[in-house]
Amino acid sequence: MRWDPGQYERYSDERGRPFRELLARVPVADAQVVVDLGCGPGALTRELLDRWPSARVVGVDSSADMVAAAAEHAVPGRLEFVQGGIGDWRPAEPVDVLVANAALHWVPGHVEMLADFASWLRPGGALAFQVPDNFDEPSHTLLRDLRTSAQWRDRIGPAADRSASVERPERYLDALVAAGLSADVWQTSYLHVLAGEDAVLEWVKGTALRPVLSALDASGQEAFVAEYAAALRVAYPRQEFGTVFPFRRTFAVGRRP
Ligand SMILES: C[S@@+](CC[C@H](N)C(=O)[O-])C[C@H]1O[C@@H](n2cnc3c(N)ncnc32)[C@H](O)[C@@H]1O
Repeated sequence: MRWDPGQYERYSDERGRPFRELLARVPVADAQVVVDLGCGPGALTRELLDRWPSARVVGVDSSADMVAAAAEHAVPGRLEFVQGGIGDWRPAEPVDVLVANAALHWVPGHVEMLADFASWLRPGGALAFQVPDNFDEPSHTLLRDLRTSAQWRDRIGPAADRSASVERPERYLDALVAAGLSADVWQTSYLHVLAGEDAVLEWVKGTALRPVLSALDASGQEAFVAEYAAALRVAYPRQEFGTVFPFRRTFAVGRRP
């Protein structure tokens, strides 16, 4: 699946806020080595330099397009971006802070990987991640219903179903504790107020809609998007002040004693 850094960054304020709220709970004062798994277009990764001024930061992402966009934020000797897959990539040295913001839900079996991530941490180091928990909201259920409808299911196929890899918050907490970390897990529900026409569609185009569109040719994409957009307009009516888009997210921070 190809990612589009420009589309993803369209709602950068709304997408950046959970990253900052996650970092606010990371109990590490000084860090030498910081890793951002699934770093995306790199603007948020760059903020890690301010939070840990002595650290070398590496952003890792499997998408060549994202890594190319992120390269603009590179700072020689302090911040680099590499192409690599979560689950394959390994750090060359112990890590003080490992961040994965809005990335692990794309990786099936990521709960089992948490013990590995924990083993990379220096004593006192922390692992911090955030995943969406909005797969039962209309933005996803309407997409799922349309994608699996008689009209579309054979053309799109099952590869576009990625939501199964999100777990309940309790499962993340248990996994962090089992990996020998102290655990701080919580959820926040945001009521984003989005500007512009078909705002929810534009948001989803940067994430959940991507696997579906990747499975279709240009005319299929156009027809699918038109149908999906019409359903979204009913579920998320545009109001004078904007379109309200509720979004629940799960946050988890684990610290190695
Ligand atoms: C929703 S974006 C989040 C980007 C960034 N962390 C942020 O908060 O803005 C998800 C990112 O995870 C990356 N990704 C998805 N699966 C991955 C995998 N298996 N290994 C590495 N990166 C992955 C995608 O390429 C994409 O850049």
